[in-house]
Amino acid sequence: MRDFKNPFIYGGRVSGGAFCNREGEIRELLEDIRGRQHVILSSQRRFGKTSLVWKVLEETQTEGIIPVYADLYPISTLGEFIEEYARAIARTLSSYEKAKRLMRELFSRLHLSMGVDPAGNPQWSVGFDRSREAETFDEVVSSLENYLRRKGKYGVVVFDEFQQITETDGEKTERRLRSAIQTHEHVSYLFVGSKRHLLHDLFSNPNRPFYRSGKIFPLEKIASGHLQKFVKKRFNGAGVDIDEKTLGLIVETTECHPYYTQYLCHVLYDIMEKRRIRTDDVPRAIDLLLRRESTAYMNTWDLLTHRQRQVLVALSETGPGDSPFRPEMLRRFNISQPAVMIRAVKSLMDKDLVDRENGQYGIIDLFFKRWIRTSIAMSSQV
Ligand SMILES: Nc1ncnc2c1ncn2[C@@H]1O[C@H](COP(=O)(O)OP(=O)(O)OP(=O)(O)O)[C@@H](O)[C@H]1O
Ligand SMILES: [Mg+2]
Repeated sequence: MRDFKNPFIYGGRVSGGAFCNREGEIRELLEDIRGRQHVILSSQRRFGKTSLVWKVLEETQTEGIIPVYADLYPISTLGEFIEEYARAIARTLSSYEKAKRLMRELFSRLHLSMGVDPAGNPQWSVGFDRSREAETFDEVVSSLENYLRRKGKYGVVVFDEFQQITETDGEKTERRLRSAIQTHEHVSYLFVGSKRHLLHDLFSNPNRPFYRSGKIFPLEKIASGHLQKFVKKRFNGAGVDIDEKTLGLIVETTECHPYYTQYLCHVLYDIMEKRRIRTDDVPRAIDLLLRRESTAYMNTWDLLTHRQRQVLVALSETGPGDSPFRPEMLRRFNISQPAVMIRAVKSLMDKDLVDRENGQYGIIDLFFKRWIRTSIAMSSQV
């Protein structure tokens, strides 16, 4: 028999056959980029933002639009922003031009040198005079626009995890970046972020420099029909038979969340017998997944306050349309004022454990929610 690999990947960017649909989103983002519309793409963690923007960047490249991708996740200072952005520009432009001379032309204040990482991929290192950070920042931020204007070309810059900009020196960087960007005519900017409330505050608060500087694009889950087709194709491609009922049960369990769908299917593939998957396999896979995650969940749980735990229990037992602050919950936890719970909810949102969607609070990680309901709430450990 052929040697198949598990076809489901969870965590990190997915591409090729492991990437499901998103055709509407790709089309819309391409239109925005062609029209030089800046976009703010946001969603909960692991909805597929990074995978989607890479797919879009591949397409723009075929149209002659030059793509630059900067991951701001690791940055927390202005200096680190400068390094990451200069590296991102160098990575892209060195595939178009003789790199060394071009870098000298583009960046008079920076010293860039190319080496190779242990895997043999080119890697840029960046040095500059730390006492001239502000001027160096301005130079890096306008370098791509200047280059493209000279060449008569257009480009797109993705700032992934853009909310990290607030970690640098707060509004000073925001203001400087915003005032540079608004003069750019050859670059469209795609601001991507996962901490929804933070990102929205950056762009929707009239007192912030980036107020209304782009189109807000909330990325939704993947439509059930598309996701079921994708799951079926991935299983069938690995020689596994799956019926329609089970496909429906999978996406119902994962609420069409792409990451949890890939995760659950990965486990289903691990436990399947005779290369067939049936409805009975789904609860077995959920059990195994929860067992695998339980140490991580327990660690998270241990770090929470009593009140935060109570709120999570309330949310884990709250169905659509119900309030977690309903009288029976307040009575159960001996709370006289809902405000006490609301404060705890806010702190859980800061920890990225809870989010608010369509006016309703919910636990972000579906399986954490299930774990709380089955392992904690039932045993009344709160
Ligand atoms: N279009 C898709 N098709 C199939 N799986 C997807 C898709 N988008 C996301 N996923 C699943 O979600 C996981 C995370 O994807 P990705 O890193 O692109 O999301 P993200 O929103 O950028 O996450 P983060 O919030 O961690 O930055 C992938 O490893 C994959 O399992
Ligand atoms: Mg991402």
